[in-house]
Amino acid sequence: MKRFIKPIALMLVVLMVGVIAAACGNSGSGAKVSVGIVLPTKDEPRWVQDEQRFKDALSGTKYTTEILFSQGSSAKEKENVETLINKGIQVLIICPHDGAAAAAAVEAAKKEGITVIAYDRLITNTDAVDYYVTFDSLAVGAAQAQYLVDNAQGTGVPLYLYAGAASDNNAFLFFEGAWKVLQPKIADGTFKIANSSEAEALKGTAELTRDQLGAIIGQVTTNWDPNEAKNKAQTHLTAAPADMKGNVAILAPNDGTARSIADVFGTDSAVTSYLVTGQDAEKASIQYIIDGKQSMTVFKDVRTLVKDAMGMAVSILDGNTPETTGSYNNGTIDVKAKQTDVIVVDKNNVKAELIDSGYYEASEFTGL
Ligand code: BGC
Repeated sequence: MKRFIKPIALMLVVLMVGVIAAACGNSGSGAKVSVGIVLPTKDEPRWVQDEQRFKDALSGTKYTTEILFSQGSSAKEKENVETLINKGIQVLIICPHDGAAAAAAVEAAKKEGITVIAYDRLITNTDAVDYYVTFDSLAVGAAQAQYLVDNAQGTGVPLYLYAGAASDNNAFLFFEGAWKVLQPKIADGTFKIANSSEAEALKGTAELTRDQLGAIIGQVTTNWDPNEAKNKAQTHLTAAPADMKGNVAILAPNDGTARSIADVFGTDSAVTSYLVTGQDAEKASIQYIIDGKQSMTVFKDVRTLVKDAMGMAVSILDGNTPETTGSYNNGTIDVKAKQTDVIVVDKNNVKAELIDSGYYEASEFTGL
């Protein structure tokens, strides 16, 4: 037997749905978002690239997303997270500007029952992170260091060390990975440290504690800022005696800082040649590699990281448990993680890895 809903009952149902939606904080504008994405800054090509890769990956998904940038400010980041909470997100994908300061933002999200995925950079000292998608950051640092070891000629090669921002957990992982490879080669006289008394004092120590890493990073940090990197490199070269010039090796933490450090070393007439590392495979650095101005970069295929993060978000929204491959301790808990490998790129394989693979267009470069 069929049952008919009387018009008055129907009106009541419509009214109640409206009341419930309002109570859920659905801001009236009707803009409901399922996945919120917060990225650290538009000022570095790396994160603009991530935004583009997210946009490419999102076309055609049934879930709605919104991407906000924090512009290097933890306060803005917290505001972004609050905006997204008010839009009803169920999953937050966040790459923190400052890994420790971001704890407050993700704790606010967690309180609303939102699942938090740390993206590329871990959020530290909080239990409010559910998952972490990342590249193998120890391997990034190790690959940079191995490149210097494999390509430096002779012994007593001056070694200039630079690091990322101390507020970024990755800066520790990159340096830790690099130090494990470099330290035995400093101990055996292949390299001599040119610009860090803290590293010099620890050159006999193979495994550094977090505090020891912090002491070195504090001295040679670029803060991920190409200008700061440039100023530091100038200061170091001005102070360097003649035996710290000639053919040198430079551990630069990423492409943005590598290019500005390379520009400084490239214009010092007492520097005969330099090897300089990088990471991110930024377009400008690919051109530097083609031109012989940067030695290598570590290619981190952002498409994979985006795919992993979105895959996790979708499986959470579908009520499933995302797949993980290991975990990272963030100082408070072990965060379940999915990790991606990296690829070393130099002049020899730049075309195969980045152009022939379709990551970039040949027309974006000259002299290929
Ligand atoms: C990222 C690098 C990036 C750096 C500066 C790190 O956390 O892993 O890819 O170059 O931050 O933004």
